[in-house]
Amino acid sequence: MTNIPPLPTYPESLWMQAIEGLPSYSKLQHDIEADVAIVGGGISGITTAYKLTQAGVKVALLEAGKLLHGTTGHTTAKITAQHHLIYDELIKQEGKEKAALYFKANQDARKFMESLIEQQAIECGLQAQDAYVFTNSDEYVQKLQNEMSAYESLGIHGAYLDRIPLNVPAKAAVRMDGQAQFHPLQYMAALVKMTAEAGCHLYEQTTAVDIQEGPQPKVVTADGHSVTCKHIVVCSHFPFYDGHGFFFARMHAERSYALGIKTDQTYPGGMYISAEEPTRSIRSAASSDRTPLLIVGGQNHKTGQGICTINHYEALQAYASQHFNASDIAYRWSAQDLVTGDKIPYIGRITASSPNIYIATGFKKWGMTSGTAAAMLISDLIQEKNNEYEELFAPSRSLSLKTLKNLVVDNFDVAKHLVGGKLEMVRRKPEDLAPDEGSAVTVHGRRAGAYRDKEGKLYVVDTTCTHMGCEVEWNDGERTWDCPCHGSRFSMTGEVMEGPAEKPLKSISLP
Ligand code: FES
Repeated sequence: MTNIPPLPTYPESLWMQAIEGLPSYSKLQHDIEADVAIVGGGISGITTAYKLTQAGVKVALLEAGKLLHGTTGHTTAKITAQHHLIYDELIKQEGKEKAALYFKANQDARKFMESLIEQQAIECGLQAQDAYVFTNSDEYVQKLQNEMSAYESLGIHGAYLDRIPLNVPAKAAVRMDGQAQFHPLQYMAALVKMTAEAGCHLYEQTTAVDIQEGPQPKVVTADGHSVTCKHIVVCSHFPFYDGHGFFFARMHAERSYALGIKTDQTYPGGMYISAEEPTRSIRSAASSDRTPLLIVGGQNHKTGQGICTINHYEALQAYASQHFNASDIAYRWSAQDLVTGDKIPYIGRITASSPNIYIATGFKKWGMTSGTAAAMLISDLIQEKNNEYEELFAPSRSLSLKTLKNLVVDNFDVAKHLVGGKLEMVRRKPEDLAPDEGSAVTVHGRRAGAYRDKEGKLYVVDTTCTHMGCEVEWNDGERTWDCPCHGSRFSMTGEVMEGPAEKPLKSISLP
């Protein structure tokens, strides 16, 4: 029987060690002025800050937690325009011209990153790789053929294959040539350094809670300070400010998982993703001591709607052992991203009536190129330069009938969790929990959430999400409370880890 190595006890992303040496930045402790205020310290916010400061614009960037600790630090870091199967669907849904623009926007982003890495000699393990979508399901073979026809019609370099270089079962694949992979946080750490040196003011532990619109808009922080500026860019993953854009009704959150494994098998190169579910994503990487690793990812599901979340890691653990003979599982981590109704990110002016407020969101787990494309587009809009992608990504674009149907389904899910979660009968009580266990429980006859730490201390919270009132669910893989409606996440004690919620879960005292 195959020897299956254990999962790490705690989640940790392969990439995070690269930013241990990054300086900490202080909280915003007084009112300031800037040309542009950017909210969010991930790839889109920092790249926008980099581009604007290079152009001489005075920028202040606010991050609610630590820079680069969100989705950017938990990606699989493929720099590719091959966003799963999308081009056939885009041609049918949006037309050939928009599908071609979508490809070009992501290719431009890849080229921007590659040339910046080369010009600045950034050591981030950049490697050219081909990208593959593969299937082992008869049902998907036709879809892959359609995707290949879309590549041909759009002039995308690639090939249709009936096998892949990797030793996993596959009946067909579509390859996109000339893509890349890298270490995302080595790249981003260099960008942070260059951006700070160019004069950008960076603030951490500074939560933006509101925007006062106008010709001189203001970002207001939870501590009551403000940044008065000419333009505000919201790159806070889920936009913390809605501005009547109704983004809570136009996107849903998805969670996916990854393992960093060691194996003696020789890797043939390439970045892979399965067309069918459960998703399987594979690429090579190197750990901080330069030991070769494979990243095996997948198990995507809507946030807060997965099975017992540790089971997702276990499914990847079994797959990694079966196909790659994993000798050690050095890392496990998960990430969350937002998906729009038409699968095209929202990048640009938040609404037509707010010309100086911009958002970048809905990257569908392809944030390396989409986040960079967002920075390129928004920095052009702020500098009043023409950008051919403005209309394609416009958050105020009109939606097709099919997209509207998708949104009805997403909002039905939200309504179901809003109402259904409250009616759910929970039989467990806080005293039933073992050490290091969390669960929905009943307290004073009502649903609550409890976690007992390893020392036996109980933390009990009100499971009503402070964003719009859905019921949060316990995520036993990460030991967090996750909201199924718009993806807010709270620590085991109820502190906000990811928005759109801004306030912690209420804690409940036991008699
Ligand atoms: Fe919107 Fe929880 S994130 S209700």
